This record gives sequence, structure tokens and C-alpha cells, in this order.
Amino acid sequence: MSILDDFKLDGKVAVVTGAGRGIGQTTAVSYAEGGAKVVIADLDADPANETLELVKKAGSDGVVVTGNVAKKDDCAKMVKTALDKFGGIDIMTNIAGITRDGMLHKMDEDAWNFVIDINLKGTFLCSQAAIAAMRDLAKAEGKDKKSRKIINTASIAGMSGNKGQANYSAAKAGIIGMTKSIAKEGLMFNIQANVVAPGWVDTRLTAEKKEGQTIGIPGQDRQQTLMYMQIMGIRTGKPIDLARVFYFLACPASDYLTAQCINVSGGLLT
Ligand SMILES: NC(=O)c1ccc[n+]([C@@H]2O[C@H](COP(=O)([O-])OP(=O)(O)OC[C@H]3O[C@@H](n4cnc5c(N)ncnc54)[C@H](O)[C@@H]3O)[C@@H](O)[C@H]2O)c1
Repeated sequence: MSILDDFKLDGKVAVVTGAGRGIGQTTAVSYAEGGAKVVIADLDADPANETLELVKKAGSDGVVVTGNVAKKDDCAKMVKTALDKFGGIDIMTNIAGITRDGMLHKMDEDAWNFVIDINLKGTFLCSQAAIAAMRDLAKAEGKDKKSRKIINTASIAGMSGNKGQANYSAAKAGIIGMTKSIAKEGLMFNIQANVVAPGWVDTRLTAEKKEGQTIGIPGQDRQQTLMYMQIMGIRTGKPIDLARVFYFLACPASDYLTAQCINVSGGLLT
């Protein structure tokens, strides 16, 4: 037995939300490369189907579930699909997330609710559906419980705040606290729960916001941050930089690691 065996995901079943694009897509494909079967959950069918093709190309199997993480029934469907199609659930990875930025004094309730619903409530509902199934599976295993994982996604904005992101920062800070509680509740069932907090990653969320769009960063704010990063010697992250950390938290190599929030920002937040 080599330490490298602890980095395999053969025989594991993973659900990844937000798996149609960006960090979620790359994480889903990385899991497949490690040998896991993947439930690819996303709001949008086309990008999710693209991920399914990549999962198959990586030599594993997957299934697409389209749904909204802010809806309880949709989250239940994601977990049920893992159980029905692949016979279990070992890894719940909540990556679906969204921004709707605005300065606090101008932020309307819709923008607040939208971001809290998808990021915070969505992570709650999907974690809840997953942990219920994981507890049942663990109980049936008796004394020899398999290790299972819940991995959530925050942001350094949830740790240090960000101008124009009161809603998003609140949601992400909430995810960190919630995950630490999930970790404590999971101890008796051999369920580890951790959070990944990305900094700046090149995806749709950090692309330049065009006229009439709700996602993205306005040109001038974007340039300022990118210039600061360049001066400080910090490169922007790529989805694979994050997928590697999600992968580590999903695989047996991290079985003794729980209730932690890992800042993956290349030095943007130290
Ligand atoms: N990109 C960054 O710099 C950055 C920084 C910090 C945190 N994050 C977090 O990382 C995660 C992934 O972000 P990304 O940058 O890959 O974004 P992305 O927009 O590229 O991908 C997000 C995916 O989530 C899906 N999604 C959105 N709302 C959903 C919903 N209600 N139900 C189901 N699926 C939904 C989208 O369809 C999309 O495919 C998010 O939680 C985000 O907050 C990203």
C-alpha cells in the first residue's frame, strides 16, 4: 500500500453542484479522472451535458441532473439520483454559486435574497439532503463506517469582505460557520465537512461585466484588482488550481481533516 493509493477515488460516488462551468466543471472532471462516478448538477442543461462528455472522456461514468440548489426538491433529486443510479453517495461537493453585486446603500432586497438563496440556502439544502443519506448509509455499515465528505465553497470575501458584495460576503461567511457545524454533527458518522475559499479565479464570475449583465466585474474595478495582484506577484487562479484542493478534500488522503476552511487565493488573502 502506497500513499498514492490514498489519492484515488475508485468506487466513490460524488455529487457536484455548479458542475456545468468553471470550478465545478473542472472539479467534476478531476473526480472522474480519479475514478469517481459523478452526478453533474447544474441549473443549465447544455453546459452540464458538456461536463458529462468530459467525465466520460476521463474514463468514468456520470449523469446530469438539472435543478436549482435553492429548491429543496431539486437538491433531494440530486442525492436520490446518486443513490438510484450509482448505489450510494460518498462525496457531496457544493460549488454552485452566484453574485449580484451592488453597494450596500443601493442594494435592493431582491439582490440580497437572490444571492443568499443560491449560495447559503442552496448549500444548506444540498448538504442537508446529502447528510441525511450519508447518515443512513453509515448506520447500515455498523462499526466499520466508510469515510464520507461534504465540501462547500466559500470565498475570501466571506473572510475579509469585499466592496459591493455585502450579500455575497454574508452568504459565504455563513457557509463557513454552517460547515463547521456540519463537521461536528458528522463526527459520529465518519463524515468530514470542509470549505474551500477561492480568491480570484478566471471564470464567468470574474469576467468583465458587460452592459445589461448581472454577473461579472465592472471594467474599472476589475483592472484595479488585477493591477494590484500583478504588483504583488499574485497570478489569477485557474479552475484547476481549485479542483486540486476539492480533490484532496474528497479523497481518503484527507480523512483526518475536518471543520476547516482552506483559503486558496495564491496569496491574495494571507
Ligand atoms: N471565480 C471566482 O473568482 C470565485 C471566487 C470565490 C468564490 N467562488 C465560488 O466558486 C463557485 C464556483 O464559481 P465559478 O467561478 O466557477 O462560477 P461559474 O459561474 O463559472 O459557475 C457556476 C455554476 O453554477 C451554476 N449555478 C448557478 N446558480 C445555480 C443554482 N441556483 N442551482 C444550480 N446551479 C447553479 C451555474 O449555472 C454555473 O454553471 C461559486 O460558489 C463561487 O461563489 C468563485
